[in-house]
Amino acid sequence: MYNIPQRPRRNRKNQIIRNITQENWVTTNDLILPLFLIEGKNKKSEVASMPGIYRLSTDLIIKEIESCLKLGLSTFCLFPSINDKLKDKRATEGLNSKGLYPTTIQLIKKNFPEAVIMTDVAMDPYSSDGHDGLVKNGKILNDETLDILCKMALVQAQAGADIIGPSDMMDGRVGAIRAALDENGFTDVSIMSYTAKYASAFYGPFRDALDSAPKFGDKKTYQMNPANSKEALIEADLDLQEGADFLMVKPALSYLDVIKLLSDNFTLPIAAYNVSGEYAMVKAAAAKGWIDGEKVRDEILLSIKRAGADVILTYFAKEFALSKK
Ligand code: PBG
Repeated sequence: MYNIPQRPRRNRKNQIIRNITQENWVTTNDLILPLFLIEGKNKKSEVASMPGIYRLSTDLIIKEIESCLKLGLSTFCLFPSINDKLKDKRATEGLNSKGLYPTTIQLIKKNFPEAVIMTDVAMDPYSSDGHDGLVKNGKILNDETLDILCKMALVQAQAGADIIGPSDMMDGRVGAIRAALDENGFTDVSIMSYTAKYASAFYGPFRDALDSAPKFGDKKTYQMNPANSKEALIEADLDLQEGADFLMVKPALSYLDVIKLLSDNFTLPIAAYNVSGEYAMVKAAAAKGWIDGEKVRDEILLSIKRAGADVILTYFAKEFALSKK
């Protein structure tokens, strides 16, 4: 026998000991399920690059939310796929209170007042330029975009949104939206800011799902440079001052250090967005039999929690909830 007083393996010797020494857990309470909404009735189309994820018409979204609520999922982030004919430079359809998006939110809240609905504020789903901000002469105009984002947020709050999610990365948008909400009596509507949203190649499948890829250029003048982490602290400071309720890091997997950085430095809840490309990679490798997709999924979600996320937006939410039943 060697003299080894500290033997860490003792705390791994069986499943019960491993459970009582486990530092982090993922539960369905931690997860937000993103959902893709399309026009029509009884319409369901799978996103080719995201096996198991569908664009659903309003009636089927309602059914989907009902089945998710039964599984213990309670928060949903809705993204609309808008008909090309309705897209224009000013994202006008995003301000139409009778449009697909707000009317669906209304119906969801009418059927399931207990469901928490998070919405997306950005111009890209409605913009003929496919950018998150207003484009003029090839440039994204910050302050002019804020006017549109505030109106968009108000339409969504009026429809019953519980959490507004500005995903556009314009400067000052959290403060502008907070003021617009408060002035109109929506002091209880939360803001989950996409605080550190990086200009990432991992969004590819999402842009396929919504047909929302930029028509020219890229998003690097507003989304963050993947090389930077101190810049995330600047964004987080501003969001805190401007009235955000949650700080989000997006994507999650290649940015676990940024999740950790924000959770170490801020007391607000930290959200992480396990994005479309991260989902697609797991599904593709699992379909080839190269990895065990379910085990990899659980390990990924756990790693995001361990890094410091309190909340995870993930396309895996429903299958994770199902696996725990
Ligand atoms: C757009 C938006 C994007 C995502 C959420 N909101 C894409 C983008 O910025 O181009 C990506 C989500 C994902 O990849 O799962 N404002």
